[in-house]
Amino acid sequence: MHSVEAEHDREGLNMLASKRILLILGGGIAAYKSLDLIRRLKERGAAVTPVLTRAAEEFVTPLSVSALAGEKAYRDLFDLTDEAEMGHIQLSRSADLIVVAPATADLMGKMAGGLANDLASTLLMATDNPVLCAPAMNVRMWNHPATRRNHKQLIADGVRFVGPNDGDMACGEFGPGRMSEPLEIVAAVESALSDGPLKGKRILVTSGPTHEPIDPVRYIANRSSGAQGTAIANALAALGAEVVFVTGPADVPPPQGVQVVQVETAQQMSDAVDAALPVDAGVFAAAVADWRIDGASDRKLKKSRDGMPALQFAENPDILKRISHLETGRPSLVVGFAAETDDVIAHATAKRARKGCDWILANDVSPVTGIMGGAENAVVLISDAGAEEWPRMGKDAVAARLAEKIAAALAR
Ligand code: CTP
Repeated sequence: MHSVEAEHDREGLNMLASKRILLILGGGIAAYKSLDLIRRLKERGAAVTPVLTRAAEEFVTPLSVSALAGEKAYRDLFDLTDEAEMGHIQLSRSADLIVVAPATADLMGKMAGGLANDLASTLLMATDNPVLCAPAMNVRMWNHPATRRNHKQLIADGVRFVGPNDGDMACGEFGPGRMSEPLEIVAAVESALSDGPLKGKRILVTSGPTHEPIDPVRYIANRSSGAQGTAIANALAALGAEVVFVTGPADVPPPQGVQVVQVETAQQMSDAVDAALPVDAGVFAAAVADWRIDGASDRKLKKSRDGMPALQFAENPDILKRISHLETGRPSLVVGFAAETDDVIAHATAKRARKGCDWILANDVSPVTGIMGGAENAVVLISDAGAEEWPRMGKDAVAARLAEKIAAALAR
């Protein structure tokens, strides 16, 4: 093998060899990142056919796009030469995957509503291939009820998503709406094209702690690092699942190539979980605060003026229990966690019944085990079949084993 190819193979850079990607660029400032995306996809061996909407041409030129792709950039539905060359039906089916990046609010709206009035939207209507969207828009547009509806509809239609990320936006605001980085999109492309046993399955993972505010500067939290939930999300994505990762403020960086939804409080996590449905399976690895402060102060509590605060608590929604009891749209498999310090199997078995979930992964978090915040875990899987003790192993190995088991259960 040629040495450069060998190098690429070692680094997994040839993962997309012989794959054809139809890349639709919508009209948003994030289109500049799609130029780098083309390079990254090509580096991994993929062929990229670019398609620009009219609005995309305001942000990047067809020339730069086609030069990077090494292919013609398709531009307009009514270009008769193109129709003679390759009709839009054929074009839409010639790819292994259609990637929409940036997926603007407008494009998402057209897709959800079934509109087909230009080349990009017509290709998206005509295709029978999988579609991956990398949304990019202003945070208010992302949060607008119309976009929320369209997002839900597209998920129900089987469209996959990567991002958007939280962050500073070109328009000067902050929040969800930034397009995922090119390498994150590449990871999502690899996952979407993977032939793993979880191909075509959409799986939700909650992870990390929640922060419950006392006042604008203080909060109640716990010691969860998010390491186990992140490892599970990575392991599921590696088997080809489309993962939605709802995370509280964690210590570890979020997984790659999945849809990351960042939240702070239990209530926000509960809302984000609802927004992510429907899913085939849900893994609830987050350490959710059972209580929040009832009527958190909107100004900083002052020692001198307020004396010792009398904190009133209110119960948070139990996300795992609620999802386990859904009458319509319950995931086929619901997996919870139980952190115990004694009588692990007895407590976890009772918790499984109380929560109504299918499996509970129980672990002993007493300080002597060093598990909470550590790199290893020793779990017992409680299911209908009884208790299965797993040997102590790295959190990545626990995640890989759980992902395999989930794949086997969903294949049944
Ligand atoms: N969970 C949840 N929403 C909550 C609380 C917990 O989804 N408001 C989920 C967790 O993600 C985890 C499981 O429920 O999967 C843990 O249940 P919980 O009752 O919180 O167990 P422990 O933290 O072990 O606490 P306790 O033993 O006090 O019941």
